[in-house]
Amino acid sequence: MGRLTGKVALITGGAGGCGLAATELFAKEGAKVAIIDLPGSQGELVAKRINASGGLACFFPADVSVADQIQRAVRHAEECFGPITVLLNHAGTIAVGPFLETTEAEWDRLMSINVKGMFLTTQAVLPGMIAAGGGSIVCTSSISAVVGTPMEVLYCTTKGACHMFARSIAVEYRDKNIRSNAVCPGFIATAHGHREIDLLRSHGVDVSNESISAMQGGLCEPEEVAAAALFLASDDASFVNGAHLFVDNGYTAI
Ligand SMILES: NC(=O)c1ccc[n+]([C@@H]2O[C@H](COP(=O)([O-])OP(=O)(O)OC[C@H]3O[C@@H](n4cnc5c(N)ncnc54)[C@H](O)[C@@H]3O)[C@@H](O)[C@H]2O)c1
Repeated sequence: MGRLTGKVALITGGAGGCGLAATELFAKEGAKVAIIDLPGSQGELVAKRINASGGLACFFPADVSVADQIQRAVRHAEECFGPITVLLNHAGTIAVGPFLETTEAEWDRLMSINVKGMFLTTQAVLPGMIAAGGGSIVCTSSISAVVGTPMEVLYCTTKGACHMFARSIAVEYRDKNIRSNAVCPGFIATAHGHREIDLLRSHGVDVSNESISAMQGGLCEPEEVAAAALFLASDDASFVNGAHLFVDNGYTAI
């Protein structure tokens, strides 16, 4: 028996970075996994690889910030696997730059992907999850929800919203047997993490290897975030609801 046997997991951003690590881990732990990611992503290949190694996964291409795409993808996932009982709201991206140079279009774009994406996906998944008798929602927040970084006003604002989205869903749906928590990583060794570090350095922010070591001991691995998400997704966390689980090796504790 895996820790997610009998569950149907939907993972947004499930074809890359920590989302991919979670897709592989959740499938290994017995979940049927619906991968939502951009049409140009590796989603199809990832699903093929998992199915070839004895797991069960299917790719549903969609941009999480576009309502009709996400609604269609969730409907197809439910038709394929049944109601979603684990949702990992992971898809997200980064913007780095001086606040005064941030354009309205950039603001709208990042809010749409990082925040509206969670809203649209959760709204599409919840009715089925409620009808199925409950489930677990995990939202990827960040240390950036509670720690400001220069050049990241917009990104930090989106993650602050993810932080409270996870908590307030927990309060509203507890009596439907639904748990909702956030996983909050520090800097991770993924495309997103490396791009963020490069952009911060290009804007003169000190994120040298030495300062990252001082803040969090080194870069977090995507599998370490996936393991924390698995705990929150699984019945091991049956009384954990509305929590913010920091995966940052003490970054926010110092
Ligand atoms: N990498 C870090 O250092 C770090 C730290 C804290 C939090 N996070 C959070 O983790 C999440 C992603 O990070 P990662 O490091 O796994 O990134 P990644 O860039 O390696 O992977 C993100 C995945 O999401 C997909 N994606 C992006 N935009 C999408 C959209 N509009 N619709 C559907 N899919 C989309 C990408 O195609 C990719 O497969 C974000 O929510 C980010 O804020 C990352």
